[in-house]
Amino acid sequence: MLLALQSVDVELGGVSILRDISFEVAQGHTFGIVGPNGAGKTTILNVVSGVVPTVRGDVVFKGETLTGISPHKVRGHGIGRSLQSTQYFTHLSVLDLVSLGQLKNSVWGALRFSDHRRTRFAQTSRTRAMEALELLDLGAYAHRPLGELSSAVQKLADMARALAVGGELVLLDEPTSGVSASERGAIADALSEMRRLGRTIVLIDHDPGFVVSNCDRLMAMNFGEVLRVGDPGEVMASAEVKRSYLGQSAE
Ligand SMILES: Nc1ncnc2c1ncn2[C@@H]1O[C@H](COP(=O)(O)OP(=O)(O)OP(=O)(O)O)[C@@H](O)[C@H]1O
Ligand SMILES: [Mg+2]
Repeated sequence: MLLALQSVDVELGGVSILRDISFEVAQGHTFGIVGPNGAGKTTILNVVSGVVPTVRGDVVFKGETLTGISPHKVRGHGIGRSLQSTQYFTHLSVLDLVSLGQLKNSVWGALRFSDHRRTRFAQTSRTRAMEALELLDLGAYAHRPLGELSSAVQKLADMARALAVGGELVLLDEPTSGVSASERGAIADALSEMRRLGRTIVLIDHDPGFVVSNCDRLMAMNFGEVLRVGDPGEVMASAEVKRSYLGQSAE
């Protein structure tokens, strides 16, 4: 097992958001997460990436407990993530977006850097960003502003940002949302490339066909709880999962 969540509870603003979330992700697998809007899918990625604290339970990565450590330390373990929306970054070039993923998000961390170290860090992060872009066949877009590109290319660029940081584990938040059916093949190709490179993937997605064909295992959730974990086809076909999506009886 590469990653495990063990009985994780999350509360935000005094409201219970996740309850008793447990699952395991095997090394090299693509683990899917599905569930209706507001189910808590993004919050799970926020917990793993250290952005949101748990009130109970643990995140275990390669046998080490990561619970409560800062986001940049999580990234230091080779865990990268994409965002559900890149709407705030449309003015950035693709290369800047991908380089940005490697910045320390602590002001103190940045201030401690001398000018020389800052320059060296910028060069290293751009080199690594360019490598990730080339791996996903996005080199030609490096200097284009994100906002000029199709949603598929924007999503792929953010996947490259996650890949540049995630040497071990890549967490992807709805890479196909807003992407036309005809362009989803490019997202699937990027997932295959990540797998070929040996990455383990956690993939949130709403498209049942896409998760069934791209995931080794699937977890369905609703109202902050796990409904079912197992074979993707079986999970999607189960009556309780269909009901959660329809909000009514699946019969
Ligand atoms: N910072 C926050 N403070 C309070 N409540 C929050 C916060 N972030 C998320 N929530 C609530 O937690 C619940 C789960 O949100 P989350 O974003 O994890 O859902 P999701 O499954 O990713 O949904 P979607 O499919 O719409 O992206 C929602 O009810 C949401 O309103
Ligand atoms: Mg979400």
